[in-house]
Parts: sequence; structure tokens; C-alpha cells
Amino acid sequence: MKHETIEKNLPLMVVMIVIALSWAGLVEIVPLFWDTDTNKPVEGLKPHTALELEGRDIYIREGCHVCHTQMVRPFRAETERYGPYSVAGESVYEHPFLWGSKRTGPDLARLGGRYSDEWHRAHMYNPRDVVPESKMPSYPWLFEDKVDGRDTPNKMKALRMVGVPYTDEDIEGAKEAVDGVTEIEALVAYLQQLGTVITKR
Ligand code: HEC
Repeated sequence: MKHETIEKNLPLMVVMIVIALSWAGLVEIVPLFWDTDTNKPVEGLKPHTALELEGRDIYIREGCHVCHTQMVRPFRAETERYGPYSVAGESVYEHPFLWGSKRTGPDLARLGGRYSDEWHRAHMYNPRDVVPESKMPSYPWLFEDKVDGRDTPNKMKALRMVGVPYTDEDIEGAKEAVDGVTEIEALVAYLQQLGTVITKR
């Protein structure tokens, strides 16, 4: 009877829905602020080097995250294929995180060390040279275009403001570390460290 009153009164139902959703949201989200499992870095986690950071930005620019996730879910089918499942503490220095939601290609969360640098270079230049049935796009321009280090120190400063522990020396040396390096070099450096903080333990 009481439920019927709510269902027949639209404004009242809207208010009740808002209250129910807000409460459910708070119960799910607020405890995470204090839960150390989700906001403490896993042991050994280091911020990206200047080169890896630029590689990550190329990964974002080229839209790799649209076809690739970086999130091994805690299911047997996933852990047998990709390796240990992802934990929140691996991503605390990631802004924005690149977990993704669509897998046109395989998950890349544990990619680091799976292939050689040469394999990655060949694969990025033309995926079909190493995986004949591949429908991944080719990225030949990465071999010609160079990284411009002008903005790298500022990117690191911005990340430091949101809690990534870059030191002054990291930031000072950043421009020099990446200036003039080819984009493929930066991208491969980024790919080769993916997920290794867990697999190397
Ligand atoms: C249109 C979708 C698409 C996009 C965009 C894409 N990929 Fe892929 N990727 C695939 C598919 C499909 C495969 C599986 C076939 C293969 O290995 O080439 C793959 C495979 C891979 C692999 C091998 C993974 C493994 O475990 O064997 C790597 C590494 C990779 N992609 C990196 C990248 C990077 C870096 C970018 C961005 C520069 C990118 N991909 C963009 C679809 C995509």
C-alpha cells in the first residue's frame, strides 16, 4: 500500500530515487578514501621516468586505450592468459588511469617483458609483419617523429601536485632525457614496464 503511494507520486518517487542512489554511492565510494588497499602504492612502485611518461602520452594520443585494456580481472581465464590480476595500488600514480573497457586487442596490463624491444618496433611499424592475421593499425610515423621535451617538466610538476612523488632532480633532468628521442623509443619504454612491479616480485 505504502509503495503504491510512492509509485503514484512522481516528485516523491524522484526524491526517493535520488536519496537511494546517493546513499548507495556514499556507501560504495567513501570507505575507499580511507582503505589503504586502494590508495597506497604497491611495494616497489615508482613514478614513470620522463621517457616512459612521454611514451604514455603517445599511447593516449594514438588511442591505444580504445582497443586495449590495462586491467586483468580476477578470473581464472584472465590470470592464466595474462598473469596476476591487477590491483588498485599499481595505479595510484596514473592520472588518468588507462584501465579501459573495450578489448579489440589483448589486455596489456602485464605486457612488460613479454616481447623484445625489436618485436615491439616491428609490430608497431606494421603489425602484420609479425602477426599476419592482425587488424591493428600501423604506426610508421612514430619512427620519424621526435619527442619534444619542452613540456615534460611541466607535466611532471602537474603530476606532483596530485601526489606523484617526483623529485626536483627528476624534473630538472626531464627535458634533456627526452628531447630529440624518437616517439617509438618512448612508446616502447612505456610498454616494457607495464605491470612489471607485480610480476617481478
Ligand atoms: C583498432 C584497434 C587497435 C588499436 C587502435 C591498437 N591496437 Fe594493439 N592490437 C590490436 C589487435 C586486434 C591485436 C592482436 C593482434 C596483434 O598482435 O597484432 C593487438 C595487439 C597488440 C599488442 C600485442 C599484445 C600481445 O600480448 O600479444 C601490443 C603490444 C599492442 N597491440 C599495442 C598497441 C599500441 C601501443 C597501440 C597504440 C599505438 C595499439 N596497440 C593500438 C588492436 C588495436
